[in-house]
Amino acid sequence: MSNSSAGRETWATRIGFILAAVGSAVGLGNIWRFPFQVGQNGGAAFVIMYLAFVVLIGFPAMMVEFVVGRKTGLNAVGGIREFAGGRWKYLGGLFVFIGFVILSYYSVVGGWVLRYVLGSATGRYMAQGPGEYFGQISVGMDALLAHAVFMLLVIGIVALGVKRGIEIAVKIMVPAIIAIFAVLAVYAFTLSGAGEAYSYYLSPDLGYLLDNWQSIVPAAAGQGFFTLSLGMGVMITYASYLSEDENLAIDGGTVVVFNTGISILTGLIVFPILFTAGVDPAAPGPGAIFVSVAEALGDLQFGRLIGVLFFTTVAIAALSSAISLIEVVVSYAIDEFGIARERATVFIGTAIFLLGAPVTIDIVMVDLYDIFAAQILLVLGGILLVTAVAWIYADKAIDELGKGVKSFSGLDKVWLWIVRIPVLVVLLVSLYLGIDGFIEFLQGDFAEFLNSL
Ligand code: PFF
Repeated sequence: MSNSSAGRETWATRIGFILAAVGSAVGLGNIWRFPFQVGQNGGAAFVIMYLAFVVLIGFPAMMVEFVVGRKTGLNAVGGIREFAGGRWKYLGGLFVFIGFVILSYYSVVGGWVLRYVLGSATGRYMAQGPGEYFGQISVGMDALLAHAVFMLLVIGIVALGVKRGIEIAVKIMVPAIIAIFAVLAVYAFTLSGAGEAYSYYLSPDLGYLLDNWQSIVPAAAGQGFFTLSLGMGVMITYASYLSEDENLAIDGGTVVVFNTGISILTGLIVFPILFTAGVDPAAPGPGAIFVSVAEALGDLQFGRLIGVLFFTTVAIAALSSAISLIEVVVSYAIDEFGIARERATVFIGTAIFLLGAPVTIDIVMVDLYDIFAAQILLVLGGILLVTAVAWIYADKAIDELGKGVKSFSGLDKVWLWIVRIPVLVVLLVSLYLGIDGFIEFLQGDFAEFLNSL
């Protein structure tokens, strides 16, 4: 970053901004969450809905956050307060709450990834069997310790202010992910179950979609927001560093394309492996990526080395996303209460660790936090943001969107109306269905878990 004439830092290069935004977007959402959502929602029927959400809802919603960020030059909480003022300032409080909840279980899953870096190095999951290994490290003391280590890394990076280091790591990470994943996808292509997997993953069964749209729609909405880091102001913060000659739509489009590509590539690895091993893709749930990749690595020459590279890359991706999550909370504490960065980070990081601790009791706790956060909180955040920006302060938004654009020929109005009506309506329906699904989960799987205690 360099100092702009106004005295505030802006990204030194356009690529710096895109990398940071991609660093936030690409993470466990693509590599862990996406394949298990596909597995639980019937394969390609979900993929199609997810793609529709990313392009038709996520991309325009990302512009909403970009507009607020660049216009105000502030972080998530300050940005929405400055842009919309009045009661909308409480929306910032919701962002902070969402950041807390998401990072608390994100870190538990991040801890699993760290265990897989180790497990790849020692070859232990191959000896023990991929399913058993996941069962052991995903809950209990093992998981709690790894969760602590992951949070310590996040706290360390943010408190020491070495986020620049992470931005540089992202520069290496994105090509690394694509390269390693491409190798694994080619390997997966050679497997006997590949054909069956591709038809499951890529050729949508419209009948299934029609029968199950009530669970697929909120799942796709949740995944779309989660994966693009939308609904809690992260993209407001990043866009606050952008200069006015930047074309927001092109930058946003670049983020969306990279992010979606990595998710799709992940599926091309996971499903052929699961089908070849004869595993029902819905069965491993949140363990899908771990179990399937461990299975594959056992087969590969240099499997352990590839495993270390693979999971280290995933860990870096997870860290860069986690940093964007905690940053929303930390910058709020600094602005609001004038606390020093280090103190704020240690205090908040510890609180997030404690909130995440119960997640290590049982895998069903991951679902509890995750469904609540992605399908309810993020979608709610998105609805409120869109309402404030596109309905109440539309003039400002249109004005800001137009900066850095040579000729708009009316596209700005198209964007406005897409966001105002279809995006909002779809999000409202998704929220309703998401709440319904969450209640069903509470009465079903979760009640069962409570009874078993
Ligand atoms: N987008 C990140 C991922 O896909 O892993 C997770 C995330 C980061 C969600 C930041 C929400 C957020 F605000």
